[in-house]
Amino acid sequence: MITQVLRDCRKYEEEKEQFITEKERPAFHLSSRAGWMNDPNGFSYYKGQYHMFYQYHPFDSHWGPMHWGHAVSNDLLHWTYLPAAMAPDMPYDRNGCFSGCAIELPDGQHLLMYTGVIHEYTKSGEVREVQTQCLAFGDGMDYTKYEGNPVLTEKDLPLGGSRYAFRDPKIWKHADGSYRCMIANNRIGHGGRMLLYKSEDCIHWEFVKSLVENNYRLGLMWECPDFFELDGKQVLLASSQDMLPKGLEYHNGNGTFYMIGKYDQDEEVFKEETNHSIDYGIDFYAPQTVLTPDGRRIMIGWMQNWDTCNLHTASIPWFGQMSLPRELSIKNGVLYQTPIREFNDLRCDERAYEEVKLEDDEIELPGIDGRMIDLTIDLKPQDPMRIYQKFALRFAQDDEFHTAISFRPHESTLKINRKFSGSRRAILHQRRAYVNHNNGALRLRLILDRYSAEVFVNDGEKVMSVTITTDLSAKGISFFADGALIMDIVKYTIDPKK
Ligand code: FRU
Repeated sequence: MITQVLRDCRKYEEEKEQFITEKERPAFHLSSRAGWMNDPNGFSYYKGQYHMFYQYHPFDSHWGPMHWGHAVSNDLLHWTYLPAAMAPDMPYDRNGCFSGCAIELPDGQHLLMYTGVIHEYTKSGEVREVQTQCLAFGDGMDYTKYEGNPVLTEKDLPLGGSRYAFRDPKIWKHADGSYRCMIANNRIGHGGRMLLYKSEDCIHWEFVKSLVENNYRLGLMWECPDFFELDGKQVLLASSQDMLPKGLEYHNGNGTFYMIGKYDQDEEVFKEETNHSIDYGIDFYAPQTVLTPDGRRIMIGWMQNWDTCNLHTASIPWFGQMSLPRELSIKNGVLYQTPIREFNDLRCDERAYEEVKLEDDEIELPGIDGRMIDLTIDLKPQDPMRIYQKFALRFAQDDEFHTAISFRPHESTLKINRKFSGSRRAILHQRRAYVNHNNGALRLRLILDRYSAEVFVNDGEKVMSVTITTDLSAKGISFFADGALIMDIVKYTIDPKK
């Protein structure tokens, strides 16, 4: 049923969208149709198309009562907006339809499971969000909320579970044909944890166990789980609030980690083997994955950060974009991410340079510039016995602005720095990561889409993502070396019309 609230929202977004020109948006990353976007939701393949829903406040470029925006794609690179799927229009979700997932039911319906939020006021007037799990059934366009909502409430929480932090359900099919659902919860006094529920029909859910407990090890509350098998292992993705940095890991306050481990489906036991940051840049949170019909696990995250996403003025017409779709794989216990291979079809105008020698200098190269590009650089020292001190690549550059990545082989660190990208705020603009290299030999792939940069290191062993606000006229690229190095360079322009 389409309520008046949803109808008004759909009308508003359709009108508002007209005022946003193509150039104001990223070209091949999904951005908010109007107003504000955060987490990807309900990322799924349904009836021959990829569906992406998202946390959405169409009426303002800041977070507000959450709706679900909706877009579809055939290749995860070209997106078509559909009318918003849900608005906070029911007594049990009147203060927000928070994050959740989507799955196709045996009868062909598209099921959305999401967190319904209602406000409760403490005696001192503080607002608390009571969170429950709700369902909506649809056909890929219109969704009807289930009359029995909510289907999971505080009554379904194990001992110590907070009803104010019980959110972001993720459903998958169990080997025996029944369903499992993982939901983030705060165990009071212990921090975040992931609860497991089971169901035969995706409607009636029963608590199984707490599958993974945080105990304040990785941040405080955990949110937005995804849980899947990959390359013979099991991966848990979760986004954690208030993380403490550890070395060069977990510098983002609220940041996403991956855990790789083993999952015993019969005993329903997850045994963790490793955990790491999933992205070492500034902007990446709350990712979800989808399995493609040919069996690839693809991840998309919100390319933003909760500490810096509120600095813009409310008057801008849209805010929030997703990351590139990234193919996941596990090699040597590390989660690799590479841009989805279909992205290569958008490349044109190849410019390549081989064996460019650079010594204590900064250079530009003809044809190497732009703000919608795919640039790969293979670096190595000129003399393996005398490794250079530093390599830097500056991009989105003019006389006043630039963003840079710099590599110091003697420290094995790669840094991304957007201090000079046009920001007027005194906030942290840089991040570093340890990277593997072979005596100063390193591969970097940089993808720019107008207002973002994603750096894939060593074919996806590590990734750094940032958004930038630099005017599009700043499109220079320069290469700097302290010491002597050699570069092979390949650059493509991206043509999203391809
Ligand atoms: C994560 C998150 C989710 C919640 C949503 C609300 O970014 O806090 O846990 O469902 O955003 O918009």
